[in-house]
Amino acid sequence: MSETFVAILMGSENDLPVMQAGADVLKQLGIKYEIKITSAHRTPAVTQQYITDAVSRGCQVFIAGAGLAAHLAGATAAHTTKPVIGVPIDAGPLSGLDSLLSTVQMPGGIPVATVAIGKAGAKNAGYLAAQILSLSDSDLAERVKAERAANAEKVQAQDQALQDSL
Ligand code: RP5
Repeated sequence: MSETFVAILMGSENDLPVMQAGADVLKQLGIKYEIKITSAHRTPAVTQQYITDAVSRGCQVFIAGAGLAAHLAGATAAHTTKPVIGVPIDAGPLSGLDSLLSTVQMPGGIPVATVAIGKAGAKNAGYLAAQILSLSDSDLAERVKAERAANAEKVQAQDQALQDSL
């Protein structure tokens, strides 16, 4: 029986500082993941092979981040019916608007759940993958809820510190 995991893909090593934020969330929630540099344009055959292989080994959700004419998430979605989360990355003069549009504007029938540009998006991709997996994993669902509560407490503590400083 293969073990469930999330695959994080990115088009270039230059995307890693952004995509690491998603990996950190998965790690914090105790979710197994793989992380790989592979490009829809520069290594299309390797990308396809990896996706097929990952699914056969138990990958349940893909997170794909890319910049510029960002087709990695869409290309991933073309090769699997597992959920694909797309992270647009600011990698050029258009500040990520190019990758946002090329990630989100998928044709009907091949969905990509597109999150925000950059690190906040990568982070939310991790949380969204966790929430998808938690539909069939009640222990994980509890960890996701606890993490949400801990984040709320952090904000309240920040406010308390602000009030105390006035
Ligand atoms: C995309 O092109 C990558 O995802 C990256 O964000 C962008 C630029 O790649 P590099 O030239 O920095 O390797 O495929």
